[in-house]
Amino acid sequence: MRKINIFDTTLRDGEQSAGINLNFSEKMEVARQLERLGVDIIEAGFPASSKGDFRAVKEIAEAIRNCSVTGLSRSNMKDIDISWDALKGGAEPRLHLFIATSPIHMQYKLQMTPEQVLETAVESVKYAAKKFPIIQFSCEDATRSELPFLAKIVQAVIEVGARVINIPDTVGYTTPKEYGQIFNYLKENVPDIDKVILSAHCHDDLGMAVANSLSAIEHGANQIEGTINGIGERAGNAALEEIAVALHIRNDYYQAKTGLNLQQIKNTSTLVSKLTGVVVPPNKAVVGKNAFAHESGIHQDGVLKEKTTYEIISPELVGVPSNDLVLGKHSGRHAFRNRLEELGYQLSTEEINKLFVAFKELADKKKEITDDDLLSLIYEEKLGS
Ligand code: KIV
Ligand code: ZN
Repeated sequence: MRKINIFDTTLRDGEQSAGINLNFSEKMEVARQLERLGVDIIEAGFPASSKGDFRAVKEIAEAIRNCSVTGLSRSNMKDIDISWDALKGGAEPRLHLFIATSPIHMQYKLQMTPEQVLETAVESVKYAAKKFPIIQFSCEDATRSELPFLAKIVQAVIEVGARVINIPDTVGYTTPKEYGQIFNYLKENVPDIDKVILSAHCHDDLGMAVANSLSAIEHGANQIEGTINGIGERAGNAALEEIAVALHIRNDYYQAKTGLNLQQIKNTSTLVSKLTGVVVPPNKAVVGKNAFAHESGIHQDGVLKEKTTYEIISPELVGVPSNDLVLGKHSGRHAFRNRLEELGYQLSTEEINKLFVAFKELADKKKEITDDDLLSLIYEEKLGS
């Protein structure tokens, strides 16, 4: 079975959404949850963009040991040096270099000729390769780029050390069929393409980010980039939880899997929503509050007779509790600890005792304690310590 690497950019592209501004401890909290979820790569920020991003990337790289931590860098020596300082303490330092390759971006944004872009890309990868063991190279606005130029720059950066080639649909313009054809074109026209991992990075401007990412997998991508809940610039990025669950449920079709711990999906989604303030729409696939609710009489009747009549994803698969056990003021320490463990938190007795006091205080004011409330308690406790 093919393994698809999951590259999470919630803390970089996701955090770039209008209105989102996570502080340092919030970023660290998200990174730790992404580690529990089992993503392969965490893009923790853009180190050269601000002191805050530099610190967040550095501390996350040093704290997270089970994922590779990366940071975004423009194709210039200054950005690469700053990124190295931020990432060198990581378990597997990796640089994410990018430059735009579409005529529209090269002419108006970069004001560079294609030859200058090619030379800049090659020189930056060469420079970065002296420091970083792994370099990912992204051709920004790849889906509006001329394919022969795209193939040329991809081959050139592979020759000087790029190990992952990312093909971003920066403005969410492509369609699943077209995106697949770009991957086919590169496989046929880049002599060294088999030496690298191909990656997809899709935006959702036309509502096709997840479909485009899945198409990329069908056409050879072995890495998918996206964010939790699909947050990100404008209409957002591809929602990673949807892709992972689609691969799991339609395994018969895709013959590919991720290494994600799917039971951690729901609470990762809840945490990201809570910290970013971006509400998850109730009808959102996989993590929406109604994703497993059956309302119409015919559907309820069918589900009561046999769940699979109308339920293709079981709620437990993504960490939504299956039973009606509700935590409230009468709940004991055992049920409390259990639910925390289901949410992925293995806490010490001392931590449980502390949280349990806070839980009881809250339960006196509120009839039902939701997972969201529990996550708030944990988070506040950590901030306080
Ligand atoms: O959308 C995009 O092109 C990006 C790149 C910087 C990878 O986020
Ligand atoms: Zn992006």
